[in-house]
Amino acid sequence: MVQAVRKEPVGVLKISTTGRYLPRAVNLCCCMRLVVAGGTKVLKQLDEIRERAQTAVALAVNLEELESLRVRFLGRKGEITQILRQMASLPPDERPPVGRRANEIKEELDRALSARSEALLGQTLLAKFEREKLDVTLPGRPVRIGHRHPLSVVQEEIEAIFLGLGYSIVEGPEVELDYYNFEALNLPKDHPARDMQDTFFISDDVLLRTHTSPVQVRTLERMAPKLPVKIIAPGKVYRRDDDATHSPMFQQVEGLAVDKNIRLSDLKGVLLTFAQEMFGLETRIRLRPSYFPFTEPSAEVDISCVMCGGEGCRVCKDTGWLEILGAGMVHPRVLAVSGYDPERCRGFAFGMGIERVAMLKYGIGDLRMFYDNDLRFLEQF
Ligand code: DAH
Repeated sequence: MVQAVRKEPVGVLKISTTGRYLPRAVNLCCCMRLVVAGGTKVLKQLDEIRERAQTAVALAVNLEELESLRVRFLGRKGEITQILRQMASLPPDERPPVGRRANEIKEELDRALSARSEALLGQTLLAKFEREKLDVTLPGRPVRIGHRHPLSVVQEEIEAIFLGLGYSIVEGPEVELDYYNFEALNLPKDHPARDMQDTFFISDDVLLRTHTSPVQVRTLERMAPKLPVKIIAPGKVYRRDDDATHSPMFQQVEGLAVDKNIRLSDLKGVLLTFAQEMFGLETRIRLRPSYFPFTEPSAEVDISCVMCGGEGCRVCKDTGWLEILGAGMVHPRVLAVSGYDPERCRGFAFGMGIERVAMLKYGIGDLRMFYDNDLRFLEQF
């Protein structure tokens, strides 16, 4: 029997049978019933909670709802915990069955919550698959493998030919010092030949290189006084130029051979071999006298027209010849500034445009097509 229940000012319940204070959060009617009821009634109460909890869990439609049910029934302030807290007010011999039953229900509820949460997760996944209409039997998307740019193909062909002749491949910087690009190549500041190679200046002394010839000087400086020197240097170069046969950025391959007894005939032989490997064995070459400040003598090198074989056509403008590169014997002053004694060695050098070689090889009329990124063009190679 409840003899007296009185509400304390702070909302704490005092039950006079036990003289114990109950926590504020305790549900009043639950405690009263507990005290009134005794063991059997509490067991009934537990079963009632179990019934409600099981129904609620079965009806839960999402994980958030399940979580709040877990808190409501099993949490620290949950309904079952509340009941266990009150066990002390039962006669000692009635406590064990209540404790046992409460624990059973807790475990059972815990399992039900887990099972329901797994089921809900499964449903969520199924719904997701359904939304995404995942059909694992569909054929995969084919991987499109691209291919090399025509200029890379030609550059690698040029490299392969010279590697076969015993040359090494070296590289130099695209942002270059005025000294290497002009000065050391016999093109002092006021030299008129600089006009043909105007470029993009980063400062008075630093520029985007206008040709690959500076790599000659850089290589010689690094190797001096070792002989022989046999290198090619492919790379990008920059000029203030832009039309159907000129682009502000284009690519060259420089060649350099220095040894004790290099002669002009060696240059001719190497270039003929190159031309025949690149354009076909029937190809002939001719050297026309020309001028470059860093070679003496200098030559412009032509190949017999790849279209008409030398008969004369639109491509070679009826001359039978196509200009392909510049070349010459390395100027003694270039050797000297790079650490080589021009009395003891000589060399030849040449420089060709990769776009020009590619245009001749594939019969392309406009250099800008290489840089337009038009797949209809690029996919033909
Ligand atoms: N550097 C020259 C140019 O871009 C091409 C050239 C000519 C390179 C003669 C050479 C050479 O090595 O000997 O126009």
